[in-house]
Amino acid sequence: MRKNIIMGNWKMHFTIEETEEFLNSLLPKVKNAKTEVVVCPPFTSLALSSNILKGSNVKLGAQNVHFEEKGAFTGEISPNMLKNLGVSYIIIGHSERRMYFGETDETVNKKIHMCLKHKFNPVLCVGESLEEKESNNMEKVLTRQIEKAFFNISEEDAKKVVIAYEPIWAIGTGKTATSFDADNIISFIRKVISGIYNKEVSENIVMLYGGSVKPNTIKEQMSMENIDGALVGGASIVVEDFERIVNF
Ligand code: 13P
Repeated sequence: MRKNIIMGNWKMHFTIEETEEFLNSLLPKVKNAKTEVVVCPPFTSLALSSNILKGSNVKLGAQNVHFEEKGAFTGEISPNMLKNLGVSYIIIGHSERRMYFGETDETVNKKIHMCLKHKFNPVLCVGESLEEKESNNMEKVLTRQIEKAFFNISEEDAKKVVIAYEPIWAIGTGKTATSFDADNIISFIRKVISGIYNKEVSENIVMLYGGSVKPNTIKEQMSMENIDGALVGGASIVVEDFERIVNF
């Protein structure tokens, strides 16, 4: 049985004060959640979040990590810095990082290796642009992103990776993929994983859908065979929305 995970990616939102207010309001509302609940605050709010989440059922995630242990990398955050804060999950290769911050399939692979070495669960984001979808290149793009991300990752480690399918055209646009389409594509992703490893690995990997997930879309999405959870952006920073998504 695969785990169900509802994960909130706060992106570049929330000061320390806003973080405290949000989490204090959220925690009592999601304490009986049936899925794993994860919040991914910006780096500046991780330490505070870590303290507030202690003893709760909500896990802590980070939005990025550097692929080296330490050194002269101005502005970067190392795996050990995150380990110290009680981070469990790290989002890797989000399309916004690929688009605006030069993240490549190669850096994504290095970061996944680093996450696994430090016993984090990497949350690998993959997804096609509208242009790639319309030119029928979606499967090719997804296959490339996955094969490169899993390069030289052992079978045992592969099972610890969470994959988030986030079509770029659905992020922040209000245009969510239909549950049927998302399920089909995630089923395709399982086939790619099965081709790299085997069926057992592909059936063990937790796979999320992300892209305009809202309280009114989550129930159907969660009822699909291949979708194990959601990576939520905009709706994850509104207490009422995130609560309704978690308690779908
Ligand atoms: P939205 O839910 O705002 O579309 O964002 C999705 C996302 O990018 C989560 O990582």
